[in-house]
Amino acid sequence: MAQQKISLTRYLVEQQRADGLIPGQLRLLLEVVARACKSISQAVNKGALGGVLGTAESENVQGEIQKKLDIIANEVLIEANEWGGHLAAMASEEMESIHVVPNRYPQGEYLLMFDPLDGSSNIDVNVSIGTIFSVLKKPDDHPGVQEGDFLQAGTQQVAAGYCIYGPQTTLVLTVGNGVAMFTLDREQGSFVLTQEDIQIPADTKEFAINMSNMRHWDEPVKRYIDECLAGKEGPRGKDFNMRWIASMVADVHRILMRGGVFMYPWDKREPEKAGKLRLMYEANPMSWLVEQAGGAATNGKQRILDLKPTKLHERVSVMLGSRNEVERLTQYHAEKA
Ligand code: AHG
Ligand code: MN
Ligand code: MN
Repeated sequence: MAQQKISLTRYLVEQQRADGLIPGQLRLLLEVVARACKSISQAVNKGALGGVLGTAESENVQGEIQKKLDIIANEVLIEANEWGGHLAAMASEEMESIHVVPNRYPQGEYLLMFDPLDGSSNIDVNVSIGTIFSVLKKPDDHPGVQEGDFLQAGTQQVAAGYCIYGPQTTLVLTVGNGVAMFTLDREQGSFVLTQEDIQIPADTKEFAINMSNMRHWDEPVKRYIDECLAGKEGPRGKDFNMRWIASMVADVHRILMRGGVFMYPWDKREPEKAGKLRLMYEANPMSWLVEQAGGAATNGKQRILDLKPTKLHERVSVMLGSRNEVERLTQYHAEKA
């Protein structure tokens, strides 16, 4: 008998049954996020034919010029998630403040955060981009919902994942029970389980960092990369390879598939900023996925998932991936301190 395909729906139902890991409302939420990603994937695929490329005439709260697809993806996620009764509120890279579910719909107990379109600079050049999401539970000690409810450490996430729009559209997910990957079957219109229990090798010979910032790096990061660049003749005794896609989703996806280390560290360009990437909807979900796959994630000094956020759009220094490399980076930071 041919092996039966397992859809995302079936996977989630089985997770709910087996371990009670995902309550019905969370299952619904994840189905809705996946449906929204399918529709973003459609828009991404149409490209110039769908009139979705190029820049919109607006800036987001981070002072970045928004692309048309940033706005489209944000709207798709909001419209899909607003009415189902599973959410209390949403927060996004593209919105200054939280979006509370309107009164006309029932309010659920979950909070959803997303980077609707990660890797915006790659949209117009047809390079992989994605959607990153993180789910928290709303604290139940008060009625209503406010921004402070979102400010929970990454360890409190109940689900996290991303969808990558590349040569294939792939959804990668954790509910705290390992990492599973689903590939979009366009004929069937459904996500099909294609890999379970993804594991990141503890060692690697591949790093990802934007080398053009080298002169601005802090000393421990410079030391780490210098040693990689020294190759076989250097202290590491092996040659390293480098990749930088400029879409965190794509770089992290590669690391989940074959190992590696990804860094977007603090640097001296804007010393008052902790880093470039955002803690709540980029670093936290990715760090949890990486940890669930046996890797590690740090800001150099602390485990990212332990950081207590102080604001929605907080930035953070990020180093994640193969465990032994992340440990080495942490050690270099400790030695400097
Ligand atoms: P976004 O498109 O959501 O703003 O995120 C872009 C981020 C991240 O995906 C990527 O790793 C990094 O910015 C790329 O930065 P550089 O432009 O410095 O390469
Ligand atoms: Mn991003
Ligand atoms: Mn984005």
